[in-house]
Order: sequence, then structure tokens, then C-alpha cells
Amino acid sequence: MTTLPSDLAYVPFVSVENMMALVHHLGVERMLCELADVIEEDFRRWELFDKTPRVASHSDVGVIELMPTSDGDKYGFKYVNGHPKNTKEGLQTVTAFGVLAEVDTGYPLLLTEMTLLTALRTAATSAMAARHLMPKDARTMAMIGNGAQAEFQCLAFKAICGVDTVRLYDIDPAATDKAARNLAGRGLSVVSCRSGEEAMEGAGIITTCTADKQYATILTDNMIGSGVHINAIGGDCPGKTELHRDILTRSDIFVEYPPQTRIEGEIQQLDPDHEVTELWQVITGQVPGRTGDRQITLFDSVGFAIEDFSALKYVHQKVRDTGHYVMLDMIADPDDPRDLFGMLARSQ
Ligand SMILES: NC(=O)c1ccc[n+]([C@@H]2O[C@H](COP(=O)([O-])OP(=O)(O)OC[C@H]3O[C@@H](n4cnc5c(N)ncnc54)[C@H](O)[C@@H]3O)[C@@H](O)[C@H]2O)c1
Repeated sequence: MTTLPSDLAYVPFVSVENMMALVHHLGVERMLCELADVIEEDFRRWELFDKTPRVASHSDVGVIELMPTSDGDKYGFKYVNGHPKNTKEGLQTVTAFGVLAEVDTGYPLLLTEMTLLTALRTAATSAMAARHLMPKDARTMAMIGNGAQAEFQCLAFKAICGVDTVRLYDIDPAATDKAARNLAGRGLSVVSCRSGEEAMEGAGIITTCTADKQYATILTDNMIGSGVHINAIGGDCPGKTELHRDILTRSDIFVEYPPQTRIEGEIQQLDPDHEVTELWQVITGQVPGRTGDRQITLFDSVGFAIEDFSALKYVHQKVRDTGHYVMLDMIADPDDPRDLFGMLARSQ
């Protein structure tokens, strides 16, 4: 006998198709701005969150990670991978999905794709950090690494930080061509460059967003003049960095959660007690961000669970308002909560 699941069995599910519909409904730049605001609000509440370095399972070719956190009311986690070799096999470097749940009952409230959402939240976090750290008059950004995340980064810096020119560089010119094509007609002046040095010309903000499972040197010391803001995205695993160590020692370094960043970020190249500033303390005004025109600020971003939590909460709210979800029969719900076996037996 087949019985229909009860209402309690159903969990809203946001497919890739529905996430794309939601982004188009809201507009990508509006969504980036709103995500930056909700992430910043949660950074203001930093102290009340459960925090742990993400749980990483490494292999020779990549990493699979779980990123959990809770604010005591809601719980969220993201499953995410990072496999730099994947694009050569027609697969993405990063894919993700996530869950938001009610702390009170433990029942899930939302299951959603997070590959697109990770690109959006990473870009929103980068630009949110930059609005506290970048030189005020910076309007040009060098964008090194023109893969899946790149256009999201460029649009977030346009919408949130007022960037009007992006200078693109990738070791693979096809990636630069792709990004330039996608950014055409979106209100940015886009310059395709043939070297990292060329991309750096006149840039007050430098974003590195490359993927390589090694200690890479995307930026060398001589490429970095005084007064710039560096937004370093791609160094986010043990043994996977982008900046020469000498840049780090010349910079004031801002991080998400030090216990995770010391393992995964650019600062894995430094002594374990090297001074870093936690971004949430800049946002709450406890410590200064940029203090001078000649200062080099570095956001050593690795991506932290609270950013995904904010994004999950935001999507949960927005899909309820817009209907961009389907209900998934996900939670077994016997009439008698202790008769799980009976429910199974009766379904035969
Ligand atoms: N900090 C975070 O929160 C966060 C979030 C998502 C992704 N990431 C990281 O961002 C990076 C980029 O992710 P993606 O999804 O865009 O990857 P991707 O594979 O789609 O793109 C990476 C690009 O970097 C280019 N590249 C590699 N080496 C280079 C070099 N030496 N100089 C210039 N370009 C080079 C590649 O050709 C490719 O186009 C990854 O390392 C990923 O792990 C970080």
C-alpha cells in the first residue's frame, strides 16, 4: 500500500534551475549587495556563533569539506569540494550544496544547491571586506584568475565598492576571453591583459582567484606597490597559496577565523603567531581597518561557514517570498514517531 507523506516530511529544495530563476528575479547585483549586507550583519554577531575550522578530507588531487555553524536558533552546513584538475576533465573545480535546520527540533528547513550560491557569497564577502579596507578612491581592480568565480567577483566590486574598470589576466587566454564576453554590457570597462604585471597597472584593488594545488606565486613582491588592497581568494588549502611570502610581511593581514586561516590561508607561510586582524572586529569598530594611504591591506580569504549560514538564511527567506523551490519528501514521518519500522512495513 502506498501512503502519501505528511506535511512534516517535506523540505523546501532549491535546485540549480530555481537558484538561477531566483538570481534573475532579484538581479545579480542586487543579490550580491543584499548578501554582502546579511553577511556583514552576521559578522557583527560573530561571537555568538559556533565556530570550528572546516572538516577537510584531502586527497592528492583535491579536497572535500564540511562547513558547519549555528547561531543557537538555526544550524547550517555546506558540502563543498575543491579540485583544481577538474576543469581539464570538463568538471568544475568547486561544487557545493547545503542545508539550513531548526536548532529547536533538528528538522531541516532548506536543502539547496550552493555551487552558484558559493560564487555569489564569496564575491559578496570579498566586496564587503573591501569596503572596510580598500583605498577610498580605488576604481580599478586587477582580476587574476578568470575561472568560475571571476565574473561574480567583478560584479560584486562594481555594485558594492564602486569599481568601474577590471583588468583581467589568466594563464589560459580562453578563460580571459570567456570572462570578458560575460562581463560585456554590464557597466564595467573590461581590459584583457597578457600578464599579471599588465593587469596590475593602475589597480588599487587586486583580486587573486586562481586554482592550483600547490604553493603558487601568482603575485611576486615587485608587482605590489604601496597603498593597494589585495583580495586573495584562491589560497584556501594546506599547500595551496598564491602570494609570495614577502608580500605578506609588507601587508596588514585581515582574516575570517584565524584557527582555519592559519591552516588554509596565505598565512600558512608565516609563523603561527604572526599578527593578523579578525575582520569581524573591523566591522564592529573594535579595531581599525585601513589607517593610511601607503598601507597594503590583505584580505586572506579562505571562506568561512558563517558566510554560508548567512547565504542559506537569505535564500530561505527569498524563496519563501518568490516560490522558487519545490517540496522534497525528505524526512521520514511515521504517524507514531517511534514506529519508524511500522511505517516501512506498512508501505510494502
Ligand atoms: N575563499 C573562498 O571563499 C573561496 C570560495 C570559492 C572558491 N575559492 C577558490 O577560488 C579559486 C578559483 O575558483 P574557481 O571556481 O574560479 O576555479 P576555476 O578552476 O574555475 O578557475 C581558476 C582559474 O585560475 C587560472 N589559473 C591557474 N593558475 C594560474 C596562474 N598561475 N596565473 C593566472 N591564472 C591561473 C586557471 O586557468 C583558471 O581559469 C579556487 O582555488 C577555489 O578553491 C575560494
